[in-house]
Amino acid sequence: MTDTRPQAGMPAFTAVFAQPAGSPIRELFPYLSQPGMISLAGGYPSPSLFDAEGLAQAAAQAMTGEAQTLQYGATEGLPTLRNALAALMSERGIQASAEQLMVTTGSQQAFDLLVRVLIEPGDTVLVEVPAYPATLQALRLAQASIVPVPMDEHGLQTDALAELLRQLPAAQRPKLLYTVPNFSNPRGTLLASERREALVQLACAYGFWVVEDDPYGELRFDADDGNTPPMPSALRTVGDRLAAGGVNPVVYLSSLSKTVAPALRVGWMLADSSLLRRCTIAKQTVDLCTSPLAQMVAARYLESGRYPATVQRARIEYQQRMQALVQGITARLDGLVQCAAPAGGMFVWATFAQSIDPQALFDAAVSQQVLYVPGKAFYPDRAQLNTMRLSFAAPDVPQIEQAVQRLATAVALAMR
Ligand SMILES: Cc1ncc(COP(=O)(O)O)c(C=O)c1O
Repeated sequence: MTDTRPQAGMPAFTAVFAQPAGSPIRELFPYLSQPGMISLAGGYPSPSLFDAEGLAQAAAQAMTGEAQTLQYGATEGLPTLRNALAALMSERGIQASAEQLMVTTGSQQAFDLLVRVLIEPGDTVLVEVPAYPATLQALRLAQASIVPVPMDEHGLQTDALAELLRQLPAAQRPKLLYTVPNFSNPRGTLLASERREALVQLACAYGFWVVEDDPYGELRFDADDGNTPPMPSALRTVGDRLAAGGVNPVVYLSSLSKTVAPALRVGWMLADSSLLRRCTIAKQTVDLCTSPLAQMVAARYLESGRYPATVQRARIEYQQRMQALVQGITARLDGLVQCAAPAGGMFVWATFAQSIDPQALFDAAVSQQVLYVPGKAFYPDRAQLNTMRLSFAAPDVPQIEQAVQRLATAVALAMR
């Protein structure tokens, strides 16, 4: 039996916290501090892309003459930031008023609030797999029954989803489905337009919420001809059309973490009013409100007009880094490690030969001072698989080239 007591005489932890597994990515942190390590592991934006000057100006403005910046704020968020975020979403083709969205402490909190409001132990939740690990972790802690939905190079497979829904007994009807349609974490895929339509139709037909988690959509790369292809419609926009004034089943989450700075911890949620209201009440007990100081800095930054140029710099830089990574792997590891070039975002998903033992490769990589996230972190059952996630966002091109050399040495070592 599991010992649920912290120490003799003290009360037991709850069942889920008796022997909790930590985040598989955060568990890699000790390796990061090893001298000389090049990390392709975390989804950290490049520090060289932070607009420190613009943020300093925004912070100075936030601090002058605005008592509300240093005060508690409304749980839904500061009106000035909610207005700026509604304007940002309209640039993404999503129509929403400031009142339809709430500010959250990172988009991570938004998902956590949804889980609190919707999920009881044993409830079925559909998750695209491979999936963002923190989503899996939140669902495990809520004791959800996680049902994986497979992906391919065009994102979540809606045919497989339709079949799965047909087969699920009525008692296991899902409450929600989680997806990152734009440059998914970890696969880097962009969900095809026709699948967006099919997914929202299924949500309307079977009655479940779709969580559209979109921190990466603006980081879209140019095509080979130099043009930036248009983005397919957001699921939320498809939902507006299909729901035609009824309940839009799509909950849209986004964040300033990947395009401005994660330290702001500013994310947001756009959802049907019944759901939003309950998430607001859930947030009241979590942190009362997202830091008004951070919110005001974010609002002033968005109002300053510097945001589009900051995103553009990131798109150009990340595309170069992605190309260095994919070309390096193709040139040095052809036949042993396979990967596709993503059309945006921060991640390359790679599959390596079955003859290479995943643990031996990870150990060899650490010995060669290069770090990646082993694929098992992205699967609900943590199965040991011949896959890995490589992030090209934080290291620069020379570091990426060096990292690929080290990876090639690690592969050679692991094959011995
Ligand atoms: C898919 C996805 N959702 C949410 C988050 C969390 O973002 P935030 O910093 O806004 O909490 C991340 C961060 O890596 C992510 O990759």
